[in-house]
Amino acid sequence: MEVRLYFIGIDLGTSGLRAILVDQFGNFIASSESKYEVSNPKTGWSEQNPEDWKHACKLAFIELRENFPKEISRLKSIGVAGHMHGAVLLDDLNKPLRPCILWNDTRSYKEAQSLDSLPKVRDVSGNIVFPGFTAPKLMWVKNNEPDLFQKIKTVVLPAGYLNTWLIGAPFADMSDSAGTSWLDVKSRKWSEHLIVSSDMQIDQMPELIEGNQIAGKIQGDLASELGFPYDVMIVGGAGDNAAAACGVGAIQEGEGLVSLGTSGVLLISRDQCKPFPDAAVHTFCHAIPEKWYQMGVILSATDSINWLSQISGKTALELDQLLPNEPTGPANEKFFPYLSGERTPLNDAHIRAGFAGLGQTSDLEKLTQCVMEGVAFALRDCLEAIKKTGTSPSSLLATGGGSASQFWLQTISNTLNIEIEKPKTGEFGAALGAARLAITAIIKEPIEKIMTKPEIERKIMPNQKYVNLYQTAYEIYKKGHVNLRGLQ
Ligand code: XUL
Repeated sequence: MEVRLYFIGIDLGTSGLRAILVDQFGNFIASSESKYEVSNPKTGWSEQNPEDWKHACKLAFIELRENFPKEISRLKSIGVAGHMHGAVLLDDLNKPLRPCILWNDTRSYKEAQSLDSLPKVRDVSGNIVFPGFTAPKLMWVKNNEPDLFQKIKTVVLPAGYLNTWLIGAPFADMSDSAGTSWLDVKSRKWSEHLIVSSDMQIDQMPELIEGNQIAGKIQGDLASELGFPYDVMIVGGAGDNAAAACGVGAIQEGEGLVSLGTSGVLLISRDQCKPFPDAAVHTFCHAIPEKWYQMGVILSATDSINWLSQISGKTALELDQLLPNEPTGPANEKFFPYLSGERTPLNDAHIRAGFAGLGQTSDLEKLTQCVMEGVAFALRDCLEAIKKTGTSPSSLLATGGGSASQFWLQTISNTLNIEIEKPKTGEFGAALGAARLAITAIIKEPIEKIMTKPEIERKIMPNQKYVNLYQTAYEIYKKGHVNLRGLQ
């Protein structure tokens, strides 16, 4: 009888860490989760303590080992996916010098602008230098924490920090590194030009590997502390969006996903690297070799509903239950979801959210509807930006916590005029993507056989009766962009 092999995938998320145990066919066995905090010491700042991630990861590993000792004794490899762009500054001993500055931190907007305006920066990195990206954060540290800046030996990304701990030496994976503004995204190499332009040195960058390549073996001491086998391999892993695409099998040209997490993402997989930074589209390396993906990113998707939930005292689920399953046309009220500034298409760290069109009848139900619609219109902005690169997804898989709302998904389908597939409840997120990267490194099967699509629970077709009404509402929404600038 064939002996089953086991793999772990980790999703180091903004609000918590999730680890899943799967077998070599990608079948889900178990998961373990724990939460941690984001700290906002000043307006626009967003930080986390990398030690909290390590602690959360250790707890998850121990829980899996205690509950599944037989499977863990046959654990072969681990893949880590993480929230992107965060700067973890390491000293000579690979210890963090300060809290990690996260993807949604906009303090380095001036540095981002100055780097973005240098010749060849957009051409080589394939992207606008957004304030959330890693390179401008390092420029900010140089300008504001010069003593600490001098002590930096290496910079790693959040997933890279967990990997450094797991194998004892820093390395970087291709998809996450694409979001630093230091990578030549087309040739999949560090760019000395970009690195030097942000006052860093090439020897501060860790070795680069592909997401499904083996980086090394787990450290012996750590393996014995965790009760893991000594020959467990650690793979490159991925940024969370690339991993989510692997989790839903969006790896071929034109296959896409819409993710309703803290941030909102409209992503499409590409066989070639075709950057179009002027549209504020992100063009990044995929987590598997010789593939790329493009995406529009909005900074507050479920964050917008969570904000309404906080101020209304109702949970996100209670808010959703105020709405029917089927929307019957857009609200008169408008919401612009720029609670933390915006990336696609505005690239504006200062713009802030707003309501418009409120009237005496604007109750909590209407506000919930228009907050969800505001996110849908912002995703439509992302679609329009992606179309400028010469492509468009034919259908989208829905992922992220917000995809539990039927009303929201139908609103998005009506607004984008695209079919949305809602997977059956189960595992298909970034943690599964990371586990699949771990599997492809060990099991010699074609990647397409491992990175398959999830079972679909429901196909949500745009309701043609209302598509024109959402189109008109989107045209009105678009006027908000310019009018909201400078109102904060
Ligand atoms: C992508 C981005 C976010 C984070 C958090 O560019 O900043 O999606 O990866 O999940």
